[in-house]
Amino acid sequence: MRIRLHDLNFVPMIPEEEIKRRTSEMGKELFNRLGDKNPLFIVILNGAFMFAADLVRAYSAPCEMAFVTLSSYSGTSSTGMVTTTLELNTNIAGRHIVIVEDIVDTGRTLHAFLQTLNNQQPASVTLTAFLRKPEAQVFPIQVDLTGFDIENKFVAGYGLDYDQLGRNLPGVWVLESQS
Ligand code: IMP
Repeated sequence: MRIRLHDLNFVPMIPEEEIKRRTSEMGKELFNRLGDKNPLFIVILNGAFMFAADLVRAYSAPCEMAFVTLSSYSGTSSTGMVTTTLELNTNIAGRHIVIVEDIVDTGRTLHAFLQTLNNQQPASVTLTAFLRKPEAQVFPIQVDLTGFDIENKFVAGYGLDYDQLGRNLPGVWVLESQS
């Protein structure tokens, strides 16, 4: 089975059922850690929208959500620059923050964002990422809760895009020529 996005072919990597099971487990794990502290989930758009929707539905206590747009990717590679196009306009001082990211590749995006965030003195910061590419990580950040560790290959689906296509796919797909 394969799908085509623009000029590239992708093959299945993580099925929808496995994602459902894992994200529900992660939501419960966050609840065990943060319980009734009314955490603020900060969702990094665009890629984390689907992950965030599944994660917070498995968080069985009141929580709040905020959204920020950060981006460092163009096509299938990182540009090396992090741009913010939607600013966080919620006061985070003294709050328990959960950062919700789709994928940690080099770690550049989160490294930059964490610095901005920590300047505003939150009570705690928990970093959660749906996917992580351990071999690709360059910047020193520690992900507290990871959905799946994957090889250093380009993926799309479940919110992740290849030049804006593929976000609606319910599973994760990997670039065929690299699989
Ligand atoms: P980093 O700053 O290098 O860690 O890159 C993180 C961002 O790059 C993620 O939030 C994604 O938007 C994007 N990204 C990294 N790897 C992939 C991939 O394999 N597919 C789609 N987007 C990716």
